[in-house]
Amino acid sequence: MRSVASPGSADLVIVANRLPVDRVEEADGSMGWQRSPGGLVSALEPVMRANDGTWIGWPGGTEQGLEPFEDQGMQLVPMSLTAEEIEEFYEGFSNATLWPLYHDVVAKPEFHREWWDSYVAVNRRFAERAAEVAAEHATVWVHDYQLQLVPAMLRELRPDLRIGFYLHIPFPPQELFSQLPWRRQILEGLLGADLVGFQLGGAAQNFVRLVRQRVGHKTHRDLVYLPDGRTVRAAAFPISIDVEAYESLARSEEVTQRAKEIREAVGNPRKIFLGVDRLDYTKGIYARLRAFGELLEEGHLDVEDAVFVQVATPSREQVEQYRILRDDIERLVGRLNGDLGKIGQPAVHYLHSSYPREEMAAFFRAADIMVVTPLRDGMNLVAKEYVACRYDDRGALVLSEFAGAAEELRQAWQVNPYDINGMKQALLDAHRADDREVTRRMRAMRKTVITHDVSAWAQDFLAELGSVRPSHGKSVRPAKPTKGS
Ligand code: F6P
Repeated sequence: MRSVASPGSADLVIVANRLPVDRVEEADGSMGWQRSPGGLVSALEPVMRANDGTWIGWPGGTEQGLEPFEDQGMQLVPMSLTAEEIEEFYEGFSNATLWPLYHDVVAKPEFHREWWDSYVAVNRRFAERAAEVAAEHATVWVHDYQLQLVPAMLRELRPDLRIGFYLHIPFPPQELFSQLPWRRQILEGLLGADLVGFQLGGAAQNFVRLVRQRVGHKTHRDLVYLPDGRTVRAAAFPISIDVEAYESLARSEEVTQRAKEIREAVGNPRKIFLGVDRLDYTKGIYARLRAFGELLEEGHLDVEDAVFVQVATPSREQVEQYRILRDDIERLVGRLNGDLGKIGQPAVHYLHSSYPREEMAAFFRAADIMVVTPLRDGMNLVAKEYVACRYDDRGALVLSEFAGAAEELRQAWQVNPYDINGMKQALLDAHRADDREVTRRMRAMRKTVITHDVSAWAQDFLAELGSVRPSHGKSVRPAKPTKGS
């Protein structure tokens, strides 16, 4: 890792709240970097390399004054947050205001003026940094709800840039969005981009409608016409995963062996149900476990025959709603195991932990029924990861109709996660389905996931951005083919 030699030379700049590496404390107490295994990084890495790319983001923690450095062909520019900004910008406005508001208000959003001030200040700093590192007529791609003001702030500083924005979470309908005291500022912030990308077409429509109603700009279909003559396009680009990487992991000897060990460790039941989520109130973990518990209570399933493995990755633990959720879920798991488990045979194996990709692939290989039942979710990549790992065309997917993935994974057993009886029925149907039915559905879902992986997603977005703003000569070079591709 070395310092960036010449800031202001990047032809492609990614701006995201998080860097693709986290600042971590090593065993000897020194500070080091750890690659976060996100799919976004693997998708963007080739195109970053081909375009002298730079990634601007927060590495976690409060360390100040971290210098830019190079990591595996990418220039990384760490942004510092103070303890107060973590509280007000990250935990506060991003995750206790916008997050619940954009997810159907499944928890009550909090509106605090000092959180907003912090959001503005942090967005400004990100925009200023992007303005410094971007080359003339470069492409800047801003990501997610934490940075919705960056596009307009950046455009003001650098009108020469081609700016894209992608929202990874849902974008709410006007009835909900309008609660936000700073609704107009957010819309205007996003309109600094040339292309605003969403997971689903419905979200893009919500955005265009809101811009018309709240900002008063002219719109036609997916286009917004600004008074300065610019045109902004809002469209859907459903995100995906690195399918090949997951499949080859799943096929590996180590993962195959580990999947067997997992099955043995949970008592070799006939069927394993699996949930894998960040421990977040949008994920519907509580209702799903209740549904499973009732099936056991009513005798439709037996603990000798069926177990539920729930992996709950710790997340945003300083935010109150997340602490309450953790307590609620852990109380429920305790009750289910106390009432329904037998010695050496708990009904629910609950793992409050995060695991490397290899271990996750082994869980996916071990599970017969994958249960993905968010109350609202932008896409839900776990559903796609499960499908990618099932190269044997086995495994059933129970999927919430309120996950973005439901638009593509039509052959899943789709459920309304608010309907516990409906969910119980779907769990039973998936459990009882014969092999032919399971294979028919999985084969169709695999076809969908394989034909649209994350690099296609990134290329589609960047190509569209290039055509929305073609006049500036420079366009993003496609990723250079790597050996074997
Ligand atoms: O996709 C939504 C998202 O908030 C990402 O922006 C983020 O990187 C991820 O979930 C995990 O959340 P956090 O960065 O708050 O840990």
